[in-house]
Amino acid sequence: MRQALTLYRSSVGKKALMAVSGILLAGFVLAHMLGNLKMFQGPEAMDGYAVFLKELGYPVLPEYGVLWIARIALLAAVGIHALAAFQLWQKSRAARGAAYRKEDSQVFSYASRTMRWGGVIILLFVVYHILHFTTGTVHSDFEYASVYRNVVIGFQSVPVSLFYLVAVGALALHLYHGLWSVFSTLGVQNPKVTRIRRPLAAGLSILLFVGYAAVPVGVMAGILTLP
Ligand code: HEM
Repeated sequence: MRQALTLYRSSVGKKALMAVSGILLAGFVLAHMLGNLKMFQGPEAMDGYAVFLKELGYPVLPEYGVLWIARIALLAAVGIHALAAFQLWQKSRAARGAAYRKEDSQVFSYASRTMRWGGVIILLFVVYHILHFTTGTVHSDFEYASVYRNVVIGFQSVPVSLFYLVAVGALALHLYHGLWSVFSTLGVQNPKVTRIRRPLAAGLSILLFVGYAAVPVGVMAGILTLP
């Protein structure tokens, strides 16, 4: 326990935790993006998929069992990721105060500033998104369990769709920087990874953006309509 705490207090420990929680979150956003594409198979496929997720693990676990385990794991990952990022930022700020070489740090501070602000935007977006499509609190015409219908009606508002596009754009940029730095760490052991880290990070982020953007764009273009 003490060793684990000592490791957490070190920068290396915090960076490792950021990487592990970040990989878990990236796995979720990729899986969620693929699930959203069920919208293109129609209302039965989309609503059926939502029921399938709610009943996953039943009757071994109660209904919603796996969903709640996933929600708790995601919340823990977001908390760890944000806390470690904040503490690392505080540490680097304190260190810079001692000897700040402006020219050297410009590129890095640009990337880390983007990551910090990107992270805050994504966090605010997720809060809005849950109120929009999970609880329906900020939805104009929400119907429980009619996921396909809720999504189509939600994206018929152009400002809402544009906001989602900006948010998934911020998410794609955040993932690009995050993957790039995870691949750089892995590349220390394996130069092959270093060579492909940029195209790999860019490819995955573009895939994520296109997959997420397809749904609001599909509604705005009239491809996804109410039955
Ligand atoms: C165009 C993009 C997106 C669409 C169409 C979409 C769609 C949905 C829908 C319909 C739900 C409710 C599912 C249900 O109640 O059965 C949902 C929940 C959720 N989405 Fe998204 N989503 C999008 C983007 C995102 C992004 C970018 C993130 C994360 C960064 C995200 C994270 C979540 C979370 C955490 C939940 C709550 C899951 C729960 O607790 O039940 N979504 N999404």
